[in-house]
Amino acid sequence: MTHPIRRTPTPRPGPDRRRRRRRRRAASLGAALTALALGLAGQLTGHPAAAAENHVDNPFAGASFYVNPDYTDRVGTTVARTGDPGLRARMRKVGRYPTAVWLDRIAAVGGADPSRKSLADHLDLALAQKRRGQPITATFVVYDLPGRDCAALASNGELPLTQAGLDRYEHEYIDAIANVFKKRKYRGIRITTVIEPDSLPNLATNTSAPECAQAKSSGIYVKGIQYALDQLHALPNVYTYLDFANSGWLGWDGNLAQSVQLYTDVARGTSAGLSGVDGLVTNVSNYMPLEEPFLTDPDRTVGGNPVKSSTFYEWNADFDESDFTGNVHRALVAAGWPASTGMVVDTSRNGWGGPGRPTAESTSPVLDTYVTESRVDRRTYRGLWCNVSGAGLGRPPQAAPSGHPDSHLDAFLWVKPPGESDGASTDVPDDEGKGPDPMCDPDYAPPGAGGNRTGALPGAPPAGQWFAEQFAMLVKNAYPPVRPGGGTGL
Ligand code: BGC
Repeated sequence: MTHPIRRTPTPRPGPDRRRRRRRRRAASLGAALTALALGLAGQLTGHPAAAAENHVDNPFAGASFYVNPDYTDRVGTTVARTGDPGLRARMRKVGRYPTAVWLDRIAAVGGADPSRKSLADHLDLALAQKRRGQPITATFVVYDLPGRDCAALASNGELPLTQAGLDRYEHEYIDAIANVFKKRKYRGIRITTVIEPDSLPNLATNTSAPECAQAKSSGIYVKGIQYALDQLHALPNVYTYLDFANSGWLGWDGNLAQSVQLYTDVARGTSAGLSGVDGLVTNVSNYMPLEEPFLTDPDRTVGGNPVKSSTFYEWNADFDESDFTGNVHRALVAAGWPASTGMVVDTSRNGWGGPGRPTAESTSPVLDTYVTESRVDRRTYRGLWCNVSGAGLGRPPQAAPSGHPDSHLDAFLWVKPPGESDGASTDVPDDEGKGPDPMCDPDYAPPGAGGNRTGALPGAPPAGQWFAEQFAMLVKNAYPPVRPGGGTGL
């Protein structure tokens, strides 16, 4: 994953707080009749899971969420090595939270990797977890574009940025996924997909990186994503959510406008057009807080200057994902997208609790001091994205969360499974294409970070591998804190 940013520090007017009600997409009569017929067939054959469902506006509403046993097992390895019984209990609880399953290479689909379940295994388990009379969602991250992670090294992938790579992506990866999804027995599962984190944002803002320029000029990212959308949207119980980076990347007005234009062009180029995309996901694998409770007005002045002009925010008025998703939704609708387009926020690691969390707004008259003392995001620089120290778990996964009416939220999800590394700073040979990334080196001072070092947690394994120390830190710094006992409330 990568988050280098091209900044476009244009001052902008205050946020438009007008509220728009979302209209629910009406189910077609034909789909309803099919569902009824299959539902009856299911009841007669004793296989209720085979009943097809209408494509609904918000797949998470009223549904339970699939819990990945591979994740529970990974957490279990750390629980077994933790002495403190209170912490152990909290860890155990987190291990039962629903997390997304990353299909991060071709082998992850078919189960060629013995340490992980295949896609079909996951869907069979989702059927087993499905409660009678309640829909279930299972979330999969589609993440194997040719030339993946073009502006960084930590999550480079297995497929080269060539026509041959694109052919393999389409036929050995996307077709393989669609062939499993379309099996009749899985029709009763609401399958939600998070499509290609970081890819279109990199095309929008990072073409100064040669790989990203190549990804753009070759058209390979766009063609791959359009192919994925066409195949996945064609299946009525599959939901498509495009990754839309985060507030600290696309929050500047210029970056947002450019990205919305790109996403609109990409979606319009698919067979279903804009309605082939159910929504957008923000903050995937990042650490942007859902809310900055003590920094609510970017235009408020301290020491004669607006808060947004501080060193930390660099004229980006979107301080958090709540503001950002509201602005993104408004921009999408203005560009012609349906108002029913839903937003999802990855809240897996954006809690920022623990002893260092501020409890009140600063009273300092010095702008940068005021911002540093008031913000819950305790990074030294907003562009840090690799195994960030001090971070904590965020809000648990939840359908249709309230409190952010402008954001049109379909759900909070844990897309990045907490405890899985963002990347390593040293070269650990693997057959997945991942490389050592300086952003994961605690002592590296990245350009644009004002001389600050990354402060990334030391000793991290390559992206995706289990990082026990990070998991323990995230649980300890959770906000809201994890309360052991009881169910997960899902
Ligand atoms: C890695 C993937 C991994 C995912 C979830 C990404 O950064 O590149 O391999 O599945 O994170 O941990």
